[in-house]
Amino acid sequence: MTTEKIFENNRDWVNDKLTLDKNYFEDLSKGQSPEILYIGCSDSRVTAEELMGAKPGEAFVHRNIANMVSNLDLSSMSVINYAVVHLNVKHIVVCGHYYCGGVKAAMDSVDLGILNPWLRNIRDVYRLHKDELSKIENEEEKYKRLVELNVQEQCINVLKTAEVQHAYRTRGITVHGWVFDINSGKLIDLNVDFDEIVNRIAEIYRID
Ligand code: CO
Repeated sequence: MTTEKIFENNRDWVNDKLTLDKNYFEDLSKGQSPEILYIGCSDSRVTAEELMGAKPGEAFVHRNIANMVSNLDLSSMSVINYAVVHLNVKHIVVCGHYYCGGVKAAMDSVDLGILNPWLRNIRDVYRLHKDELSKIENEEEKYKRLVELNVQEQCINVLKTAEVQHAYRTRGITVHGWVFDINSGKLIDLNVDFDEIVNRIAEIYRID
C-alpha cells in the first residue's frame, strides 16, 4: 500500500461519512466518551476497531507488542489511568491473539536485543504457569495456551493498578480477557473469573 493510496482512501472515507451525515466530523470533534478500553497487540492482522465493529469514538485503544501491561511502561500505565479516571470507561479488555510473534519469540532461546526486556515479561508468565504448560506436548497447543495465559496475566496486571482497584470497588468496572483467532477471525472470551482472582491476590496487591 503506497502512502498516496492512503491519502486517496482517506478522501473517499471522508466523502462516504459526509454523504451519510454531513455533521459527522463536526460531531466527532466535540469529544469522546468511549465505554471500553482495548489493550491489544500491534500485529497488523489484529485490527482492534474492525474486529469489534467499533466506530470512531467507541473504543479507547492501546496496542503494543504482545498486548503487555507492564507497571514500568509509562505509556500503558498512562492509557489505563486516563481511560479509567478521566474517560470513566466501563470495561477494560486485554485482547491477545493466536499466532502472536511476540509470544512465539518469548518461547525461543534467541537474543533479540531491545526486545529482550519486553519479552522477558512473557517468559515470566511461562514460569508462573510452567506446571500447566510443560504438560502440553503439542507445541502449537502450548503456544496457544501461552497466548491465553499471557492475556490472563496482563489482565491481572491491569487489576494491580490503584485506579482500576478503586474503580472496581466503587463503580464495578469490569476486566475481560479475550483472544482473537486469526485462523477463523473469531473473538474468544476466555471467561476469566476476575472476582475470584481479585480476592485471591488482594492480600498481596491491594493498594486502594
Ligand atoms: Co501479537
